[in-house]
Amino acid sequence: MTTFVDQVRELGVKQAVIAKTDEVVERITAGMNVNDVRAALRGDEPRRPNPRLRPHADSFWLHIRPSFYHTEVTNIYPTFRLGWLSTFMFVWETITGIILMVFYTPSPLVAYGNMWNILANVPLGQLFRNMHRLGAEVMVIVVALHMLRTFITGSYKKPRQFTWATGMILLVLTLLLSFSGYLLPWDQLAYWALTVFLSASEAAPAPPAVNQNILLIAQGGPSLGANGLLRWYLLHVLLMPLLLGIFFFVHYYKVVLHGLSLPPGREEIGEDTAKRVPRDERTYFIPDLLTSELMWTALLSLFLIAGSLWLWDAPLETHADPVVTPLHVVAPWYLSWSQGWLKLADKTIIVGFIPLLMVAFIVMPYFEVGKSRRYADRRVGLSVSMVFIAFMLVSNWMGTPEFRVESSPDREVSIKVLPEEGPSLLMAVPYEEIQPGSYLPGQVVSGSPHLTEALAYYKTILEEHSCTMGNPALTDFHVAACRIEEGGTGEKRYGVGINNKEAMPDPYSELRVEEVQDGLLELNLYYEVANPDDLNEILNISDDWVKHKHIDSNYEEECRYFNKC
Ligand code: HEM
Repeated sequence: MTTFVDQVRELGVKQAVIAKTDEVVERITAGMNVNDVRAALRGDEPRRPNPRLRPHADSFWLHIRPSFYHTEVTNIYPTFRLGWLSTFMFVWETITGIILMVFYTPSPLVAYGNMWNILANVPLGQLFRNMHRLGAEVMVIVVALHMLRTFITGSYKKPRQFTWATGMILLVLTLLLSFSGYLLPWDQLAYWALTVFLSASEAAPAPPAVNQNILLIAQGGPSLGANGLLRWYLLHVLLMPLLLGIFFFVHYYKVVLHGLSLPPGREEIGEDTAKRVPRDERTYFIPDLLTSELMWTALLSLFLIAGSLWLWDAPLETHADPVVTPLHVVAPWYLSWSQGWLKLADKTIIVGFIPLLMVAFIVMPYFEVGKSRRYADRRVGLSVSMVFIAFMLVSNWMGTPEFRVESSPDREVSIKVLPEEGPSLLMAVPYEEIQPGSYLPGQVVSGSPHLTEALAYYKTILEEHSCTMGNPALTDFHVAACRIEEGGTGEKRYGVGINNKEAMPDPYSELRVEEVQDGLLELNLYYEVANPDDLNEILNISDDWVKHKHIDSNYEEECRYFNKC
């Protein structure tokens, strides 16, 4: 065997290095040398015998990819590269997640501090956190779109029913993977979203002892604490990725086994010719599909990096507090539909219905009778799916606090203008700009630009939650919509307002500021609400919303950091 030194003696240093590099590249690519790789990327014809086919048989990375595809399925339609991009997102999440793991300990004592350390001290820490969190949301979107496309092109039909079923499991795992990461920052948003989610599961249609034990296991105790955090962490970094990896391989094995389905119009009804690819209709993976996939990967990466750098910051609320429930507990947007349903019907029905719906989706291809994948033959199915998507979008909106919120409009205004915790425009006004006294919404305070800005915001929010009754052209409908109603138990509730939001009739509101001790201001929001039938009569007064601002508190910094100002 000739050694490298022998080669140097024989060929000279330059040629020996080239030969060695070629040898190494050939080993890595299982058959292609540097010139083959360059020719493939340039789009040149391969030499004969074609070295580009060997990596599919011999290499670790490519042996699960077919070496060629039907040209029809390598165009952007029908796949839109969504299956590949789902795979890529999983890899993206794994890499960014491992980097974050280095700086994170799953303990309530330090987890939240770890997040701040990642944001403030770890080089590129905030970028990686943003990329991971944005990636999780993009992955949900990409997987859902991939599901939608396989439905629309009828690719779930025989013989791909099982591919669809494993895909459904992948969808559920993707949602769980994303949601299990939600708790890890150990902030208010995370803590309460998970608490509410888990408490809903207590209503499952099973014997109470079973539900209680499931809840106990999921929380790691009577309430979420150190055990719970550790369990959700392990679910997030270990169990879910492992399951997703396993099901991915089953899914992909099935995809390769049956071949990618051709566009519906290209086949006879009931036939499946995906695996019979005539020579003149073959497109080789290297270079055509590979370069196309690389391009889409690069574009998506660019979006994720640019989005994380300039467009979006992963949220971080204040430290989790088991005794303070925030006014609005919101599920992540991709589960908001379930929160919407909980507002409509009994908990037990909904918690029982969701798994049933998933099972129905999994088995749907086995029961579907129509053989044709063509769009014209599937008008009913396609229409039903569009109605279902619209229903999910509406349900998602119903899950937001805007829909049927239980709190009163004065609370809604207060929570936005002067939140219980965390920064806001008003809290971030520099201490020296606020003098004791009272301020009206929208008031211009000379020499205090930040306070003026905060008061303008206060006015906008107040108007969003008000009915303007002083207008003589108002109809009975408007008056009725804004009337204050007495509930059965004596509590007062506002009418539904004109935009279906509870609203205060012609409110008078002001911000009262008092210096309660040296260097400490007390901020209080005061509301007076008129009777819509007789505006001279004050029906409701509320003045219990109070917050304190210390001269040394650093809300300005925090507010800027979270882009809330
Ligand atoms: C993590 C999630 C998923 C990954 C990584 C993944 C990956 C893939 C890949 C790489 C392909 C082949 C190429 C393509 O169609 O783009 C594919 C095809 C397929 N996937 Fe998925 N998938 C996922 C989720 C799903 C879901 C949620 C469904 C449906 C419920 C699904 C159903 C299918 C079907 C039916 C095919 C065959 C398409 C055809 O032959 O035309 N997949 N998947």
